[in-house]
Amino acid sequence: MRRIAFVSALVLAFVSARQRAIHPAPPPVGPTFSKEVSRIFQANCQTCHHPGDIGPFSLMTYADAYPHASDIKYMTQTHQMPPWKPAQSCGIFDSPRILSQPDIDTLAKWAGNGAPEGNRADLPPALDFTGGWALGQPDLVLSNSQPYTPPALGDMYRCYSMPANTTDQKYVSAIDIKPGDRQTVHHVIAFIDTTGASDRLVGSDGGAGYPCFGGPGFTITNLDATTLGGWAPGYRPVMLPDGIAFSLPANSRIVLQVHYHPHGTVPLPDQTQIGIYYAKKAPTKLMRVLPLINDTFMIPPNDPNYRVTADFTLPSFPPINTHVWLIAPHMHLLGRQMHVTAASVTGQNQQCLIAIDDWDFNWQGMYRFKDPIAVPAGTKLSLEAFYDNSTGNWRNPNDPPKPVSWGEATTDEMCIAFLGFTIDSENLATGQVVDTSWIPRVPQ
Ligand code: HEC
Repeated sequence: MRRIAFVSALVLAFVSARQRAIHPAPPPVGPTFSKEVSRIFQANCQTCHHPGDIGPFSLMTYADAYPHASDIKYMTQTHQMPPWKPAQSCGIFDSPRILSQPDIDTLAKWAGNGAPEGNRADLPPALDFTGGWALGQPDLVLSNSQPYTPPALGDMYRCYSMPANTTDQKYVSAIDIKPGDRQTVHHVIAFIDTTGASDRLVGSDGGAGYPCFGGPGFTITNLDATTLGGWAPGYRPVMLPDGIAFSLPANSRIVLQVHYHPHGTVPLPDQTQIGIYYAKKAPTKLMRVLPLINDTFMIPPNDPNYRVTADFTLPSFPPINTHVWLIAPHMHLLGRQMHVTAASVTGQNQQCLIAIDDWDFNWQGMYRFKDPIAVPAGTKLSLEAFYDNSTGNWRNPNDPPKPVSWGEATTDEMCIAFLGFTIDSENLATGQVVDTSWIPRVPQ
């Protein structure tokens, strides 16, 4: 792909140099970078394609974009860029990264016409990505006091326990995570420790933080404050609406569980950061997390389409009525598809919450529904996932394929959809307490 881009850039440069030698450049016909293309890049591409972010090259300037013109045409026409996994037939999400057909056509025409720059006076004001936090400067930024260099081989789960240094109850609208070493940080989960238990584990093996294969290494006792969410490649931070927030009790510690998975490169010292955005107003409800989970499956070797299901029915006695705001499917490398639906007990009114038909471990997301989904008492939430444990799956980490079941290593599998939800009867303003004992937990 890069070679094609390079060759076509050379050809384009040669052709346009010849044209200039013969005639003064005629005004370009069709879309130009300065007018149409730069605006499409600003709206759809630059969040990742700017210096220092995950895109492999910048799309900020004409000089940045020009050599990639034919790649841009190909990747957008084939819907590989911008990356967006949920099927459009299921679930309506906030800020979907979907390029409209007219925009795809504009980029194709632009590349096809020799990717003209046009008149620089037409350029929109440049977007500013300095500071590096997609939602602006966080209210609180934490990172472990010392860096840690993971081993060059194998998976390592490491936890860093950091005091939030907050002496009163806080509410959190969003977090963002900046991995220190983007090449080896595979994913990050931010747990909340309300008892200080994590601090006693630090230094158990002499390195920064402590090893924590599986969960955070301590028992989470406060079910109102378990996690602030996480990060995996492709996540973009999401700001919760006013009135709903994650709870961060006074004097909590934040425990960042960082999964390192070296990809044959020499791991660098890592000091992953978490940025925390406090709610601007006191919330009335807490955002809680329901794992829709199957942890008892065994995927046989050489099965290219093994089905795993999970379901959970919201309690009816007493009734628990909820709204679901966020959904984050999670599988590892054998996962190929995941579909999540909600249906009334009788099986009526089935609603599709998310469908991912081409699971890519590198493009996981926590998706926010455009409008929260009402999920009343008695609703059955169902998950259906398919795994390819054959040699035909180029991502299969086991060669030859072997039986694979639940586990934390990348060579194990998972089958979870995390649902971020609120309980309708909760009202923090009036002190209305709600029952949360029914919420299933992720095994530790
Ligand atoms: C959410 C982040 C993100 C967004 C938004 C995004 N990209 Fe990318 N892009 C990436 C990453 C990361 C890669 C590297 C390949 C990969 O990991 O899939 C990439 C790769 C590419 C490639 C090169 C593919 C190759 O293999 O050489 C092109 C071309 C590209 N992007 C164009 C675009 C265009 C055009 C847009 C907007 C319409 C866009 N991207 C939006 C993150 C993004």
